[in-house]
Amino acid sequence: MAALRALFFLALFGVCSSQMSECSYYGLLEYLNLTASNKVLEIMRPVTNWTRTTSVQMDVFVYGILDVDEKSQTVTSHTWMETHWTNEFLTWNPLDFCGIDRVTVPRSMVWIPDIIIEEDSSDSGCVQKDPVVLLEPNGAMHTSARQRLTYTCQLNLTLFPFDMQRCNITFRSLSSDVRSIRLGTVNNDTILTRISEWFMITQGEWRLIKMETVIDDILIGETYWSKVLFIVTLERKPMLYVIILIVPLFYLLVLDLASFFISEDSGEKMGFKVTILLSISVLLLILKDILPSTEDNLPMIAQFCASVFTMVWLSVLEAMLMSFLTDLDNYCGKKAQSSVAIQLDIQLEVKCHKEKICFPPDQLSDHDLLKLILEEVKAAQQEVGSHKKDEREPGCYRKLAKIINYVFFASYFVTVLACIVFMCTNWIENES
Ligand SMILES: *[C@@H]1O[C@H](CO)[C@@H](O)[C@H](O)[C@H]1NC(C)=O
Ligand SMILES: *[C@@H]1O[C@H](CO)[C@@H](O)[C@H](O)[C@H]1NC(C)=O
Repeated sequence: MAALRALFFLALFGVCSSQMSECSYYGLLEYLNLTASNKVLEIMRPVTNWTRTTSVQMDVFVYGILDVDEKSQTVTSHTWMETHWTNEFLTWNPLDFCGIDRVTVPRSMVWIPDIIIEEDSSDSGCVQKDPVVLLEPNGAMHTSARQRLTYTCQLNLTLFPFDMQRCNITFRSLSSDVRSIRLGTVNNDTILTRISEWFMITQGEWRLIKMETVIDDILIGETYWSKVLFIVTLERKPMLYVIILIVPLFYLLVLDLASFFISEDSGEKMGFKVTILLSISVLLLILKDILPSTEDNLPMIAQFCASVFTMVWLSVLEAMLMSFLTDLDNYCGKKAQSSVAIQLDIQLEVKCHKEKICFPPDQLSDHDLLKLILEEVKAAQQEVGSHKKDEREPGCYRKLAKIINYVFFASYFVTVLACIVFMCTNWIENES
């Protein structure tokens, strides 16, 4: 009797508790066999028939471009990833459970697709995964993660600083081939791009142009693997590089051109040109800090810098030649002049001896003295005149120097123009 009563009460309690549990998560989790750890749910791909593939949908949003490292060819960005798949065992009818239409379960309790990013080169500490998985009545599971993702990207720097980069972020399963897991995307390219732009918090030097997706199966060894590829297109904002590299380079080139008009005799020309050469080498150092040391796709700006450097170097050499030729000319001229001067002295002496007026002045009258002074002044004037005439009439070296200078200036000017036009057309062409 007592046993029967106890059984009755137990049954009543059971009914009450079951009625109460209908609106709690506990009942649902109990129904789904998730109250205790269920090893089978953790390790088994959640399909009732193994030949059915699990379709995994991925979405990636780039909401921050933190760094693009040209040296190590990596891109660092803030990314948000969402993964969706279906678990065929974890389904329920919401009407049976007070209309519960979603429940969260810890990641550790259910099977999660092992998706990796092939280009990933970030530390493992940079991933922040959602600790729970969201579950819907039809078995749909959603999980998300945010990551400070550093991924390798072959940067093409030919057009630096007016370059645009296309970087791949490739997702694939680590261990399941295309028969087990098939990857796909939820949103199309336009929506991905728009959402990324909407959430963009920092872009720095770069601008996100667009995101594209490519879904593809690839053959590795003998098995096909499903892949989903997100192509992120970034464009550099070039203004800073224009200000610190291109404009100074252009100005230095113009200064070097202008230095042809500095007089050869002032002696400043060479020093000025060497200073320009040094300034350009400083710009080269800046460039070296930015660009990687790669031999293919040598950036055009590096070539431009090297050509400008070479041109200025040539013009320094030319200035040296000019200076040498001028000195040679002066030397020859002096030699000639000095011989003329010696002759003049001898003549004067002879004249003095002949006229016999080179004796102490106390023997002369004021009138004679004045006359003598006048003659001396005239002679001096003549001498100066002849010197000037020598200078006005350049020697053959000086003429040669002038011709070389003109020819060099003309060819230099043409080269500079050609160089600038070439660079500009290349940049503008590829920009459009
Ligand atoms: C939970 O497990 C029991 C037996 O252990 C099984 O009969 C039941 O179908 C399972 N429920 C679900 C939703 O898998
Ligand atoms: C990125 O993916 C595209 C399309 O598959 C491919 O053509 C390109 O070579 C890839 N780029 C890199 C750097 O792997």
